[in-house]
Amino acid sequence: MMSPPKGSTATVRQSPEHQSVSFDLKQYLSQKQAEVEAALDRSLPLAEPKTIYESMRYSLLAGGKRLRPILCLATCELLGGTPEMAIPTACALEMVHTMSLIHDDLPAMDNDDFRRGKPTNHKVYGDDIAILAGDGLLAYAFEYIVENTQNVAPQHLLKVIAQLGRAVGAEGLVGGQVVDLESEGKSDVSIETLNFIHTHKTSALLEVSVVSGAILAGADAAVQASLLRYAQNIGLAFQIIDDILDITATSEELGKSAGKDLTAQKATYPSIWGLEESRRQAQVLVENAKAEVASFGDRAIPLMAIADFITARSY
Ligand code: IPE
Ligand code: IPE
Ligand code: MG
Ligand code: MG
Ligand code: MG
Repeated sequence: MMSPPKGSTATVRQSPEHQSVSFDLKQYLSQKQAEVEAALDRSLPLAEPKTIYESMRYSLLAGGKRLRPILCLATCELLGGTPEMAIPTACALEMVHTMSLIHDDLPAMDNDDFRRGKPTNHKVYGDDIAILAGDGLLAYAFEYIVENTQNVAPQHLLKVIAQLGRAVGAEGLVGGQVVDLESEGKSDVSIETLNFIHTHKTSALLEVSVVSGAILAGADAAVQASLLRYAQNIGLAFQIIDDILDITATSEELGKSAGKDLTAQKATYPSIWGLEESRRQAQVLVENAKAEVASFGDRAIPLMAIADFITARSY
């Protein structure tokens, strides 16, 4: 498991009542990551045919920040929901995310050899099994939510399932990946197209991570809407920082090959705005995100700290 970045050890925030509230983001993330790791390990036992289960577990349990499940758990908790309500959806979000990484790394897409500090799925199991491992994780995610969620009204669960399907399909992640691939090698990609790519390929899943936590906790439409705006802001900021880190971080830090966007001539924020302006825009988005949840007071401190982590991270 990767550890949070240096400098996030102790975050001190001011509550709306101007009392100093101490919040240790590093400890919070470590604890939540440990919960998610254990739940993911339990979620997918080895079975027959062994090859496919091994391949699915290889990528699902390879570490990573576990940001999507943590967002779901943190949002549900913020609204008074229990971890039991959210943990199956949290696991499902990581299954869907892992599918997207396995497929994104395939030779037919970004053609990457390393992911989460290890050889990519297709490098170990071959393209055929890697494609099927992604398919298996995607399908299992939906089954897992339905079979394992407790204490949530069926109509809320149906909403979560519908929104997750939408976030990962052609209206979301898949659509963003298509335009990302179509934009490769083009020097005249507009900012509108770039925003479409980023909000679809990356932000859509981060948005449903937050909103599903709210739905599971029984949040009303207004609360869901403000949490969606929080998520839209951190979602775009997250991919801007991913683009920046591809240039500024090392492969060792990232656990994936750095510098690939330039060689693949990907449409990225730094390629249009430059590094400094991209960083500034990500910071503005994070401040907007924090403003969206400020009215929750101290209960929003984890979501605020996670927003800060998105720009402060070094991997
Ligand atoms: C990488 O996501 C792919 C993007 C959407 C940018 P993460 O940076 O969350 O990857 P892991 O889960 O920590 O490995
Ligand atoms: C990731 O975009 C989007 C998805 C995996 C859906 P990238 O292609 O930039 O992600 P990395 O940099 O390979 O993690
Ligand atoms: Mg890609
Ligand atoms: Mg990629
Ligand atoms: Mg990238």
